[in-house]
Amino acid sequence: MQNARLTLDPHFTVGPINRNIFGGFVEHLGRHVYDGIYEPGHATADDEGFRQDVVELVREMGVSTIRYPGGNFVSGFRWEDSVGPREERPTRLDLAWHSTETNQVGMHEFASWLRKVDSDLMLAVNLGTRGTLEALELLEYANLPKGTALADQRMANGRPDPFDVKIWCLGNEMDGPWQLGHRSAEDYGKLASRTAKAMRQLDPSIQLVACGSSSAHMPTFGEWERVVLSHTYDDVDYISCHAYYEEKNGDLASFLASAVDMDHFIESVVATADHVKAVRGSSKTINISFDEWNVWYISRFENVDKIQGLDNWPVAPRLLEDCYSVADAVVFGNLMISLLKHADRVTSASLAQLVNVIAPIMTEPDGPAWRQTTFFPFAITSRLAQGSVLELKLDAGTYESAEYGVVPLVDAVATHDDAAGTAAVFLVNRSQTEEITVTIDIAALDGFTGVSAESLYDTDVYAKNTLEEPERVTMKPNTTATLDGGAVTVTLPPVSWTAVALA
Ligand code: AHR
Repeated sequence: MQNARLTLDPHFTVGPINRNIFGGFVEHLGRHVYDGIYEPGHATADDEGFRQDVVELVREMGVSTIRYPGGNFVSGFRWEDSVGPREERPTRLDLAWHSTETNQVGMHEFASWLRKVDSDLMLAVNLGTRGTLEALELLEYANLPKGTALADQRMANGRPDPFDVKIWCLGNEMDGPWQLGHRSAEDYGKLASRTAKAMRQLDPSIQLVACGSSSAHMPTFGEWERVVLSHTYDDVDYISCHAYYEEKNGDLASFLASAVDMDHFIESVVATADHVKAVRGSSKTINISFDEWNVWYISRFENVDKIQGLDNWPVAPRLLEDCYSVADAVVFGNLMISLLKHADRVTSASLAQLVNVIAPIMTEPDGPAWRQTTFFPFAITSRLAQGSVLELKLDAGTYESAEYGVVPLVDAVATHDDAAGTAAVFLVNRSQTEEITVTIDIAALDGFTGVSAESLYDTDVYAKNTLEEPERVTMKPNTTATLDGGAVTVTLPPVSWTAVALA
């Protein structure tokens, strides 16, 4: 049996938790919108065609902001197609996912759904096939109260009040050769700067996100951020990060250490942003919008799912419908730990995605909706992680992984809300064979008398929730958690994610 030790002290904090890090992402992709959140005719559909069973699950997750409408989709999207009378909206090709977009759900319908799930809109503009003018027009339509052609058009389309969108993404993954309108860092940086300046001229209150790298393993990673920020530093608030992880070639040991890579990614982007800050002698700090992160079996998409053919453009095909295991959820929970550990600089994040498409929630047409394994770490972290992230001293054993070298067996993060009198610790055990007993020294935290814990684990680390067996994997109470003499002790099963709540 291995042991590990953590010490918490409320006097040493990383920073306050910005609720925007519990964001999600809805892209017009596969069955995300159509047959996902929207299915008129479904037994639970409301008068607008939105599935109430899905609404309830999204609310249970506690999703703060939702990035929309893409993703790769946005780089070919004409926002005007998605507003106005539905019967007049054009049907278009979606080149990104080789599908047909009917535009039956657009900005107005999506904003109405957001009210139901209690989340805020984060919009991406198309800087792939379009430019500054179209971004400005969308901003005017969305945020200007009244009195111009576009604001009045919004009102005529049934929305008297502005959408009041606060956070805007300047395009999507413009570093990726797969992206419509892919550009060099130099070209994108100039376009993003011009567009940001123009958008701020219209609405100075908005926050803007410049595209960073679509993965830390892109050949241009690092240099892309430096060049883009040297053009946009004064114009934007965030640089984005995107990261997806999957188990490759049966190497579970490396997969379980994916958050080591995410830590490194975040710290590299922070270093690059701060380098540009130093060179410019700026007093402004650029933060990270980690606006796509998840476990995604990209290889399955590339080799099996990809749609092709000039006469084959399906509506809402089954795409990227990964079914997540216990091991996937443990890695997923660890990615959330990584985001929280960097709460001082990661102040916005979006889980990619939400329903059916690499998603914590799955649906069947005319059938049920259910929670994937990854649903649990998101919902529980969003609920329990309140206040500030504490600096944490962690003493744990290590193991050797093929991809990331020597890595800790345990990863953890702690949060503390002084005003509410609550604290939480989130932990993973990456060992495939051994339980690890963790002692958490909370002597410096006043007034805690109760502890409870729950863990995600299974004797079969590849167990999943499916249509046939939707509740095969759920959280289990961890009855080993005790609080005694200023220390919490909890035993973590092999390959597990655990949430400890103090009250
Ligand atoms: O989330 C799926 C896709 O991953 C997004 O459309 C794109 O931005 C990224 O490559």
